[in-house]
Amino acid sequence: MIRRKVVAVRRGQPEAMRWFVVALLALAGQAGAQGMEQRVAQGRTAAERWCQECHLVGGGVASDAAPAFAALAANPDKSEGVLRAFLAEPHAPMPPLSLTRQDIDNLVAYIRSLAPNR
Ligand code: HEC
Repeated sequence: MIRRKVVAVRRGQPEAMRWFVVALLALAGQAGAQGMEQRVAQGRTAAERWCQECHLVGGGVASDAAPAFAALAANPDKSEGVLRAFLAEPHAPMPPLSLTRQDIDNLVAYIRSLAPNR
């Protein structure tokens, strides 16, 4: 039954095959977007828990000692790679946080989500 369908798709219906591929790609894209949304949400929770005592986590006016996350997001020098490297090994005056890779992924996704023009 299934085999016959596959043959039909291959031989007689290249159109159907094309739509099948389009649908698969659309699904994959949606999954990717959902994964990103989830990372951003988890990053926000982590930031509120671990970073907020020093950093301004959401939007708004910067505090004096630590840069506001929105300011980091708006700074072209603080690319995803730079943020990632810093969080893997933060230096004084940041406390020596030991973040997992997952934490870092989430936090960087959250910080980048605050960038203007998105
Ligand atoms: C005890 C206070 C404190 C906490 C908690 C803290 N930070 Fe910081 N952080 C700082 C200070 C102060 C700076 C400024 C360092 C500098 O200018 O050299 C900084 C700088 C940064 C920078 C910028 C580094 C750069 O290259 O300019 C990033 C990114 C950052 N923090 C992320 C985080 C994240 C994410 C968390 C939570 C997981 C966090 N920080 C928790 C105090 C803190």
